[in-house]
Amino acid sequence: MTSVDTQSLSNRRTTHPVVAIVGATGAVGQEFLSVLDQRGFPLGGLKLLASTRSAGKTVEFQGKTLTIEELNKDSFVGVDIALFSAGGSISKQYAPTAVDAGAIVVDNSSAFRMTAGVPLVVPEVNPDAITQANIGLGQDQQAGIIANPNCSTIIMLLAVTPIHRAVGVKRIVVSTYQAASGAGAAAMAELEQQTREVLEGKAPTCDIFPQQYAFNLFSHNSPLKENGYNEEELKMVHETHKIWQQADDQKTAITATCIRVPIMRAHAESINLTLDKSLTEEQASKLLADAPGVSLIDDRQNNRFPTPLDASHVDDVFVGRIRHDISQPQGRGLDLFVCGDQVRKGAALNAIQIAELLLA
Ligand code: A2P
Repeated sequence: MTSVDTQSLSNRRTTHPVVAIVGATGAVGQEFLSVLDQRGFPLGGLKLLASTRSAGKTVEFQGKTLTIEELNKDSFVGVDIALFSAGGSISKQYAPTAVDAGAIVVDNSSAFRMTAGVPLVVPEVNPDAITQANIGLGQDQQAGIIANPNCSTIIMLLAVTPIHRAVGVKRIVVSTYQAASGAGAAAMAELEQQTREVLEGKAPTCDIFPQQYAFNLFSHNSPLKENGYNEEELKMVHETHKIWQQADDQKTAITATCIRVPIMRAHAESINLTLDKSLTEEQASKLLADAPGVSLIDDRQNNRFPTPLDASHVDDVFVGRIRHDISQPQGRGLDLFVCGDQVRKGAALNAIQIAELLLA
């Protein structure tokens, strides 16, 4: 996969780059390792970075034993591509250090997503947002950082972009059912522990989330804004506008409700679309069946539609329940149900696809 003109990047060893993973012990960090291996990414070297807690631990990768190093300001010497997934404050502190050392950063946190000049990329949607200027060859002060979008946004846009390109999407109403993985490895462990505790009649341990998670669901744990939306919901709105490169007067109207559900690693989303031009269910199915990174599970006869388990550990985002919205004029409203692996396409896979765009 190559779409960027990387000729001028020859000084960055774009055929076999040295890659660093920041947050290598986390849920996404571990997935980076699987995805790099499965896709046969042409590694020139691999450096695993985490906190002092993990320094010295070892990880087996492609028959070699790699030792996790403590992240510090000298970590990026000799690194060509740095994949960050250790939270926004670590990205803010160390991504500029990595860029100064000559690396291109692919950042999974929200730290730089909305920063002007930082490309926010879903490779199936807007690979051309990566240009030579914004990956470090221009004068922009943030050059060298490419942001990986929010996981719910990536999963939604894989399904909605083909429809938007074909007929225009005027409005999106999305409700999410989000997995534990989005809150990291500790949240996944807490869901498992709570499930055991509840089944054993014990009080559930609530360390990560302030309320019971197993056998429950609750509004997304990101901070609430004054207008009553939480940050996750607003990320879906603003990041979509940036990825679709919509000017203020042409922005798709978007409203989101984000909910955390007791699922381990794949998000589900109910998506309602108002369309500019009409589209039949058959046309929508065909567009989605042909879309890169999308698979259909849409079997009305057997009431079989996507589930988070279908999507878990799988690259593609699954779409089903493709139906005309009966509250809209025929062809002008469409409902979809989408499931995608949050750790994979929602994070690690998308970031590594971005890194692949940088290869010569
Ligand atoms: P560690 O395991 O050493 O704490 P998750 O998103 O699954 O919670 O993972 C977070 C990742 O970020 C982990 O790899 C974690 O490493 C890493 N991390 C957290 N704090 C720091 C820090 N101060 N310096 C480097 N890595 C950090």
